[in-house]
Amino acid sequence: MGAANSHSPGSVLTGKRIVLGVSGSIAAFKAVALASELVKAGAVVDVVMTPAATRFVQPLSFEAITHRPVVSDLFADQGRSIAHVSLGVDANVLVVAPATADCLAGLALGFGHDALLATALSSRAPLLLAPAMETLMYEHPATQQNLETLRRRGAIVIEPAHGRLASGRSGRGRMAEPVQIVEALRTILGRTRDLADRRIVVTAGGTREPIDPVRFIGNHSSGKMGVAIAEAARDRGARVLLIVGAVSVPLPPGVEVQQVTTTLDLKAAVEAAIRDADVLVMAAAVADFRVEQVASDKIKRTGDEFTLHLIPNPDILASIAAAPLVKVGFAAETHDLLTNAQQKLVKKNVDLIVANDVTAPGSGFGTDTNQVSFIDRDGIEDLPLLSKREVADRLLDRVLQLLRQRSSEIPSLVGRESG
Ligand code: C5P
Repeated sequence: MGAANSHSPGSVLTGKRIVLGVSGSIAAFKAVALASELVKAGAVVDVVMTPAATRFVQPLSFEAITHRPVVSDLFADQGRSIAHVSLGVDANVLVVAPATADCLAGLALGFGHDALLATALSSRAPLLLAPAMETLMYEHPATQQNLETLRRRGAIVIEPAHGRLASGRSGRGRMAEPVQIVEALRTILGRTRDLADRRIVVTAGGTREPIDPVRFIGNHSSGKMGVAIAEAARDRGARVLLIVGAVSVPLPPGVEVQQVTTTLDLKAAVEAAIRDADVLVMAAAVADFRVEQVASDKIKRTGDEFTLHLIPNPDILASIAAAPLVKVGFAAETHDLLTNAQQKLVKKNVDLIVANDVTAPGSGFGTDTNQVSFIDRDGIEDLPLLSKREVADRLLDRVLQLLRQRSSEIPSLVGRESG
């Protein structure tokens, strides 16, 4: 929208301190092109090389581009400036490109035996990794587990591409192109932190109501929408608790996760979580009924009809008091979308309803896109078909407005009470 989001070259990277870690792969030569692109875009680039990387590319190649000294020897300055600590602390982002299998293992295990690993250990900046290695090394469970560990810790991994490798074979393992890495850095550095320190509780996925020890009543929720909201809120600086039922997507790193099964579990988890929360977003598909008598043994087929007696579950959203909490509900409908959503707004006493017709193309369960309308007391905003992540960010824009309204209302309430 505004100038802050402009994609003009350098707008996000200008003046940013980027530490470029280079480990020992033939792809190290691409890191020279990457450094060049970043410097052109106005970033301050400090290169940290592993000893193996210096066998592929001379530090001087980087120094000529960045006009800054390359750190490659942990002991070079004999403790005078402790470059690996100060670089890590001052960095806005740390990008390791290429990241070899050995380097990923060292990062995952927290080793600090070379300048690159020690810099990473001293840094709390976002970590971007561009792996490069032979396919067999990349696909080895050890490497994959290390990547998984790093992802869970919040690192962003740009997958290597298929192509011709140093061995002459073809396969996955070629480092991503510098232009892709620059784009990823722009995204990371361009994130606004407008939800910093806000506590946001998001529910996602479907609840399951047991029938007997092996069967349950469930629904088609994939959890994608709720997970996208949790990720977007995390990226905007919020402290996120994601309460999940059954989901078919990976859970995001960098957010606290609590797993639940039934609607009653979810209710207890939400009630405990909102005590110190600013926002509750109920994106979970919640079972409205549960089986009254859950069988303790597996129910056997007899050939006769079988009837399950269901009793209503509590409506979690409706049972929770609103202000000062910002409450957001979802309305997944198959007909009369807007009328039903408007009724829910009132009945459940929520600040905002996200309504979607789950039968519309590109919307609803399991899709990566969603076409929704936002409904609040002032009216309806129809959004176009967007990715779930974009819907999440638009939703958080509305949440932010509501939070700001709340904080401007509170001083006037206090004034009235004391006056
Ligand atoms: O009434 P309906 O199920 O369509 O309402 C959907 C919204 O209410 C969603 O935000 C859902 O998470 C929430 N809900 C709830 N407790 C229920 C059923 C739905 O909080 N028992």
